[in-house]
Formats: sequence, C-alpha cells, structure tokens
Amino acid sequence: MSEKVYPVSAEWSKRAWVDDAKYQEMYAASVRDPDAFWGEHGKRIDWIQPFTKVKNVSYAPGAVSIKWFEDGVTNVALNCVDRHLARRADQTAIIWEGDDPNESKHISYKELHAEVCRFANVLKAHGVKKGDRVTIYLPMIPEAAYAMLACARIGAIHSIVFGGFSPDSLASRIEDAASAVVITADEGLRGGRKVPLKANVDAAADKVDCLKTVLVVKRTGGSISMQPGRDVWYEEAAAKASADCPVEPMNAEDPLFLLYTSGSTGKPKGVVHTTAGYLVYASMTHQYVFDYHEGDVYWCTADVGWVTGHSYIVYGPLANGATTLMFEGIPTYPSISRFWDVVDKHKVNIFYTAPTAIRSLMGAGEEPVKKTSRASLRLLGSVGEPINPEAWEWYYRVVGDNRCPIVDTWWQTETGGILITPLPGATALKPGSATRPFFGVKPEVVDAEGKILEGACEGNLVMADSWPGQMRTVYGDHQRFMETYFSTYPNKYFTGDGCRRDSDGYYWITGRVDDVINVSGHRMGTAEVESALVAHPKVSEAAVVGYPHDIKGQGIYAYVTLMTGEEPTEALRKELVAWVRKEIGPIASPDLIQFAPGLPKTRSGKIMRRILRKIAEDEFGALGDTSTLADPTVVNDLIEHRQNKR
Ligand code: PRX
Repeated sequence: MSEKVYPVSAEWSKRAWVDDAKYQEMYAASVRDPDAFWGEHGKRIDWIQPFTKVKNVSYAPGAVSIKWFEDGVTNVALNCVDRHLARRADQTAIIWEGDDPNESKHISYKELHAEVCRFANVLKAHGVKKGDRVTIYLPMIPEAAYAMLACARIGAIHSIVFGGFSPDSLASRIEDAASAVVITADEGLRGGRKVPLKANVDAAADKVDCLKTVLVVKRTGGSISMQPGRDVWYEEAAAKASADCPVEPMNAEDPLFLLYTSGSTGKPKGVVHTTAGYLVYASMTHQYVFDYHEGDVYWCTADVGWVTGHSYIVYGPLANGATTLMFEGIPTYPSISRFWDVVDKHKVNIFYTAPTAIRSLMGAGEEPVKKTSRASLRLLGSVGEPINPEAWEWYYRVVGDNRCPIVDTWWQTETGGILITPLPGATALKPGSATRPFFGVKPEVVDAEGKILEGACEGNLVMADSWPGQMRTVYGDHQRFMETYFSTYPNKYFTGDGCRRDSDGYYWITGRVDDVINVSGHRMGTAEVESALVAHPKVSEAAVVGYPHDIKGQGIYAYVTLMTGEEPTEALRKELVAWVRKEIGPIASPDLIQFAPGLPKTRSGKIMRRILRKIAEDEFGALGDTSTLADPTVVNDLIEHRQNKR
C-alpha cells in the first residue's frame, strides 16, 4: 500500500464547491439528520409537485423497503432538458465524438429537447406507455441519450443492454423485462470495426415471444435485413413525428430504468432505479465529486450500457446543465493518443475513466501522452475497480502533469451514484484509496460474523443506512433483492466488497469477496461463465475464478472437466473460448482454461473455490485446510497442471 499523501492545493480548496471544513460540516449534518439534509438537497431538482416526505426506509429482515421523496412528482427529462431551455438553450449539452476522428458534433440543449421529444413521439406511436419496458441496444451515438430521455419523458422504463453482449444475453434481458420494443442500430462502429447490432437483435428475437417492434437507427448504412411489421427505420418514423411532447408527471418512486448486472449466483438481475432519489443523488455527486462549474467540459469515457454511463454521461451531467462528451470509439484508435487528442480537440476540463484503460495506455509509455497538450485538464477520475498505486501515480504524473487531483470513485450499479470518493477541494489523496464517504453515506467495516470493526481495520464493506440513489428492488423479484443484499448482515446493505480502513478513516477497497469477478471494470458472475461452459456438449463440469491480470485487473480462469472420452486439445480450448463469447459476449472470454480431470469438492459435493482461487493465483502454499475434501489428491493434480502450463 502506498504511504504517499497528496494534500489539497490552496488553489483547489479555494475554487471548489467544498473545502475540508465544509466537507466535515456537511457530512456531519447529512448523517445527523438525513431528513433535513436531503430535504434541502432534494430541491436541487425541479418538481411538478413538491415532496413533503423525505426518507422512508426500512432495512428490516424480510421487510426491506426504500423510499425517498415519496409524495413528490417530477420528471427526469424535464430536469435534464426542459428546465435548461430558459437559460442555456444554445449551450452545448452533448459533444459527440465519433469513432472516426473526423466525425464529431455539438448538440445544444434546444436541439436535445427537439430530438428527445421526437423520439418520445415515435415511441408513443408504437404503443409505448408509462410503465412499459423498452430495451436499448445501441452504440455510443447521441440517439442513445435521446432514447433514454425519451423513455423518461413518457414514463417508460429503459433497460440498456451493452452492445458487447451476445444475442443470448440480449434475449434473456428482453424476456425478463417483458419488453415489447427494442431500439438498436444497423451496426455499431468501434475502433474501425463494425458490430452487428441489428443482426444480434434478429437472433435474439427468435428466442423471445414478447418483442413486437424493433426501431433501427441508421449508423453505418451497412446491409441488414428488415422484417416487415416488426422492424422500423427510426429516421423514417422520426421524420413524421412532432418535436413537441409533454412530459409525463412521475411519482418520485416510479421506476426510471432497469440495468442488468451480475451477482454471485443465478442469472443477471434487473437492478431497479427510480425517479427522484436517483436523479438528486446522480446530479449532486456529479457536481461535488467532479467539482462541476458552469462552462466546464466534462468527459466520462464509459459506455451507456453500464451504470457509469447512465449516471455520469447522461443523467447527472444533464440534470446539472453541463456539457457532457460522448465518445463512440476506443482509446487506441486510430492511435494510442486518441484520448488525449480528444481532450485537446474539445478542451476537456474533467476526465473520468477506468483503471484498465490507464494500465493499458501505460504500457505504451509516456510519449503518446506527452506529445499532446492536455492543458485544459483540471481534474481526473477513476472508476470500476481498484486502481493500483503505480497506475494512479502514472495517471497523476503523466496524464495530469502533476497538477490535476484524481478522484478514485467507489460505487456500484446498485448504488446509483458514487458513495466513497475524494472531493477535490477537500480531501488529501492517497494513491489507491477511494478515501472518504460522500454526504449521507454511512460505511461500516464488519467481520464475517457481522461484528462492527472500529478504527483501522479490514473486513467486509456494508452500508448502515440508505442514500437517495440506492436501488429499490430486483425487477420482479423483491425476495431476491432482500436475500442478495440484506441477509448476510441483517439491517445493513452488503456491498459484496472487502475493504480496509486506515487510521485516517480512509477506505481502501480490496475487491469482491463473493463469486463476482471484475474484468476490466466489467462485472461477471463466475456462475454465468460456468453455466455457459457446461452447456457445451463436451464439458462435464466447470469452475471459474478470477486471477490477477496486469491490464484487466482480473482475468477469467476456468477449470474444465471434460466428458469421458473427450481429448483435452488446444483446438478444444479455442472452441470453448469461442463458445463462451457466443453464449455471453466477448467480455466473458476465459483468459485461461485448465483442463482438470477432477475438481476439489467437499464430501457433500460443493466445489471449494477458495482452493481453485489460490491455485489460479499461484499461491500453492496458501491453500488452507484441504482435509475436508472428498479426494485431496485432486489438488496436487491441479497444481501440477498449473505449473506445467507456465
Ligand atoms: O468491486 C467494486 C468495483 O466494481 C464493483 C461494482 O461494479 P459495477 O456494478 O459494474 O459498477 C462499476 C461502476 C460503478 C464494486 O463492487 N469498483 C467500482 N469502483 C471501484 C471499485 N473497486 C475499487 N475502487 C473503485 N473506485
């Protein structure tokens, strides 16, 4: 762990929304009286009918219920678009930077309003009503933001599926949400390569019954097939639609979106976020964490398919009337300087990315960064996985020229917004630490039995109380919500992460303590990869664990037992990797497959993953107690195979 501390500069504590004294004061107020604190900050959004109640939350076993501002009425699109028209109609809302560096455009708030209204009217014309679920499977084009805000405008619930997911993964999400409409594009474009989005939707559509309409945005003009009666060109429909559409009054607790995410067991679950609490929290964190001020150009490099894109490309920034940059491409195309070229081109002030991107760019050395100016940059951010101190230092020194604070923001799909983070004018930085809780956030560190640990300690991270951006339920399965997050430690929200707290009260996230792995900031349930593998006819059993990976943070390590008589060949290994890509998507590709004649199981047949994890990490001396295994010799076989492979 790094011992280095980077104090807040005098310039920063002066210019920022909050300095340390103000942070201490606001934080104390926020936990002392959440109703008063959030009652005040709830007014940061516009209300159609103001709330009179603030917080109504129970974490009680079997009766978890989370409500914020429950009698208020508002609309997210009203807040992200319409309310800015009076003051900033001509200000750029979205800067879109295409995959091709010669393609970019500026969309003003006025234009955004017209586009969102048109999109909303197209949805209505295809029967979409308040409460209906709309699946969005789009590349990083402005239409993704229009579609999200159009759903919000008419009260439909969007469910975005990342464009890298396979037709099977897309189908199961369409089905779970019982979505009648999918919005997609002919093809996506990333790093000069085409992504067959519409063809994937066609394949997914064969597997579901609920789908009635596919709206297709033209992106590349590549040839695709259109099914009459089901498929509609978005541009043709939009040409007939009015650029005026009233906003639907929404109760604070009406769902805004579903976002599927992986857990330790079972299929990905639909995380439900609702209207007002989510928007208050996303916009407030966006303002304070990134110290957003009028006129700043802000860029979050995430994809809208992930929660980071929801909260910090679209909803948080637009609610604040910000200029948000949306990037279609990848950091290495057409050259490894692309991020910094874009920063210079659009004079980006605030830049928010993932450690995996930093680590991969680090590998190419300083020159591709140093040849660009980056003089506009003022603040850097990190999200998605722990950032190792070496990557942090490189980001700080090389990208930020030793003058930009780094906000290492810890949060989750479930939390809706950032929970643990530095504030740039208030918090001295320690490389590798997400530092301190945001306003209203009450982290605790507990041991395996749930005992609350005090002072400097290490254990599991839980939240003792709710914040407005917290997820409300698992779509269609409140029981699963309660079991997943509130049963391990009664009366607390369990994050699934381990962490250390140091003597300054700083939090250091150590990674997941459950069967979730984090590959390049993408969450993957080991059970999902295992069930994809065992669906292959030649596989009898599979166990998947994470292992340390220099660039991705964690890689996917699969132990595979073949059906009797099958040969463990190199060709089969490749076939299995391709199989998992097809079943789930490229982000789930196993990095290493070890053919294992047997897996370490207890006498009751449970696979002991702890042992598999240690073997994958090459920590053969730290296997712990293996005496409860049904057949302890299996372990030696596995170690031998692992060693032979290196
Ligand atoms: O393990 C933590 C890790 O990412 C998980 C949440 O993943 P997801 O829901 O996909 O959301 C990612 C973007 C918010 C967490 O449980 N994680 C996220 N940010 C950090 C992090 N780990 C360490 N440091 C972070 N800053």
